Parts: sequence; C-alpha cells; structure tokens
Amino acid sequence: MSAAASTRADARTLRRHFLRFLAQSPLLASFGGMAVQRHVEAQDDAVLSGALKWTELIANADDAVNVWDFEPVLRKNVNAGHYAYLAQGADSFGTIAANRRGFDKIRLRPRRLVDTSSVDMSVQLFGQRYSSPILLCPVGEQQMFHPDGEVAVARAAKASNTLQMLSTVANFSVEDVAAARGAPGWFQLYPTSKWENTLAMIERAERAGCAALAVTVDVPARNLEPVERFDRDNDPKCQACHAAAVGQSPWRLRHMFDGLDMTGVTMGITGLTWSYIDRLKSATAMKVLVKGIVTAEDAALCIRHGADGVIVSNHGGRADESLRGTIDALPEVAAAVRGRVPVIVDSGFRRGTDIFKALALGATAVGVGRPYIWGLGAFGQAGVEKVVELLTRELKIVMQQMGSASMASISRSSLEY
Ligand code: FNR
Repeated sequence: MSAAASTRADARTLRRHFLRFLAQSPLLASFGGMAVQRHVEAQDDAVLSGALKWTELIANADDAVNVWDFEPVLRKNVNAGHYAYLAQGADSFGTIAANRRGFDKIRLRPRRLVDTSSVDMSVQLFGQRYSSPILLCPVGEQQMFHPDGEVAVARAAKASNTLQMLSTVANFSVEDVAAARGAPGWFQLYPTSKWENTLAMIERAERAGCAALAVTVDVPARNLEPVERFDRDNDPKCQACHAAAVGQSPWRLRHMFDGLDMTGVTMGITGLTWSYIDRLKSATAMKVLVKGIVTAEDAALCIRHGADGVIVSNHGGRADESLRGTIDALPEVAAAVRGRVPVIVDSGFRRGTDIFKALALGATAVGVGRPYIWGLGAFGQAGVEKVVELLTRELKIVMQQMGSASMASISRSSLEY
C-alpha cells in the first residue's frame, strides 16, 4: 500500500472509531451524567500508534505510562459534545493521520559511548529560559475539560517551568493565568472583524506582561463535522448549558472579550493579508509569531514582514485536509527561515522521539495540544504535569540514545529519511 493510501486507510479507521464512540456514548442518552466507560477498546491516537492494548483506565496521573493513557480517562469524564470538540479533525481526519504518519518516515541513527550522564534540555526563547523545548499550545475553552481549565494548566506549567500559550477564546483571562503561572506566558490571537477590539486584547496581553503574541492564520475556513453532527442530534441539550452564552453573548464565557462591545463582531482571518502582520508589528512591543505556516513561501513572507517567529502548525489536523503532516513541512520552513527567528512546530506530537525528530530538523521548540488536555480532563493539574513529565522523560531517553547531551548537539546526522 502506498503511503498516501495507508494514510487514507488510517483516517478511515480513525473516523469509524470516533463516530462509533459518538453514536454509542451513554452520554447521548443522559447528557449530564458521568457515565463510566470501563472498557475502552481503542481510541483515536492509540488506534494509529497501537499504544493502547489494555482496557483498564488509570486511576491516578502517576499511573500513566505514556500520554495516551490519559485520553480514555478524559473521555469518561467529559460529555460527548466536548469530547467531539477536542478530538475532531477537518473533513475525514486525513491530516490528523498524516501528522502521525510523518514521524514513521524518519528513522533514527543511535550513537554509542557518548557521555550523556547529564542532559540539558533547556531552551531560551525571547530571553526566557524553559526547562525543556516542550510547550503547551493554545487550546480554547478549557473549562470544557476541567473546571480549573487554563488556570490548572498554568499551575502545571509553573511546576515544570514550561511555556504556556493562552488562547484568545480561553475561559480564564490573561491576568488570571499569569498570576497562576507566576509569570506571563504568550498570548495567541484570533483577529476579530473590529480592529479596536483586537487592539484592546493585544494591549491587555502586553499589559499582563506577555512576551509574545502568536497570530493564528491557518483557519480562513474549515469543515469540522463531529461537533456539527453532535449539535444537530442533541440540540437543545447543548443549549441547556450554553443558554446563557447563546442568549446573551457568545463571548460571555471567554474573558478576553470582557468589556468589549462585540455586537456584530466576528472572528476569522478571511480577507486578511500579509499587511496584517505589519499592522500587528507596529501595534505592539511584544514579539509577533505567525502560527499555522506550512510552506517555505509563507515562511519567507513571515520573515519579510518582520515576524519574530514561525509556528509550523496545521492546528492538529483541525484546519485543512491537506494530508500533509507538519513534520513533513518543517524542513522547508526551517530552510527558508535559516535560523533568523525561532521555528516552533506542533500537531501530532505524542512521543519524545517525535520531538527529537523535529529538533533535529531545525525546530527550536515543539508544541503539544491534545495530550495535555487529555491530562487536564483526566486529573486536572496533576494530569498536565504528568504529561509534561512523560514527554520530557521520553525526550531525555532518545537524546541519550542519540548521544545528544544538549539541544545544540541535536543534528540531522541522527536522522535517516
Ligand atoms: C486547538 N488549537 C488552537 N489553536 C489556536 O491557535 N487557538 C485556539 O484557540 C485553538 N484551540 C484549539 C482547541 C482544541 C480542542 C484543539 C485540539 C486545538 C490548535 C492547537 O494550538 C495546536 O495547534 C494543536 O492542538 C496541536 O496539535 P495536537 O498536539 O493537538 O495534535
């Protein structure tokens, strides 16, 4: 089977399991209940990875052996609509599958008898040093997964000295999250149709001390079916919880919009062009990164328009059905950037080896989205901490295997592809 054909087959399997879950979920029958799904046969990422071979759910964060262990626990804890929001991908999930498959095309070349008794995984980004190159991507509305949402994530980020990026559509404000983190993180921007409102959010993030602003540009339009299907089949049950937001203002639960007149305002990047990056650059002293870049051409445009960083991302397979993993896109982006600004990559990273491959291909740091949300939904702050710990541990192991004792010593010579 060709790589493209097997990616499509993976995507079909993934989609079948997902739709079967939605169809069979006891939570469709009792929306507010906390039905316990003890016997989870397999789940999305695990289907691709082959990682989940047993049925018992872990009872504590510390019982987790890898990041996938958290996913079925989150699935048990959250309602099916919120699960659909988290797990879904564009169209037929082909890009989710491609994100994972991309790593399989790259083999590693272990080296022997290199002293790796001490491994330094720390990285510096815009003057701030973090314990590892792993960062927590912006994920919207995290109270869907745990009442403490982004604040629990901030506490976990503090405990592990990890960079957290806060979404525009977070359930907690940038000030609350900075207080919980003990230091400001970065702010992710979804532009709004009203510049005054966008500017107000940018200024608020800057006042809160954020060092960087990441503007997300990969969703001019997209097709996400699971939540649409869930909404159609379950309305008005969804409305029972979301009524206040729907009845008053859809922005009410998203505190970065507090105090802004959002009448008639929409979010989205359709209609924006590269001049928007110039506009952001002149509107803020924060570093400006562009999130959602997957080609050399656009990476070059980022640099030309003064971007301070590039984030290679396809939104975790939630933006397009390109069937192209970000690990496949990373080399051309890194080549176009030529080390002039940091290159961060996300989408589909689940293992230390995945992270190592990206670092060897020129990434400065690597973001994870769903894995830490699995941890959050499973065990709150403790779950997020454990996800970071597991990924860090795995990265350290692969660095020791490759004979790389520091970030600077990771190179393409460790790869065969
Ligand atoms: C996201 N992502 C995202 N990105 C962004 O710029 N702003 C946002 O508000 C969100 N919200 C969001 C919600 C959910 C439920 C998911 C899963 C993702 C994308 C996110 O920042 C990141 O690019 C991906 O999650 C990385 O892929 P993995 O690790 O989830 O495979």
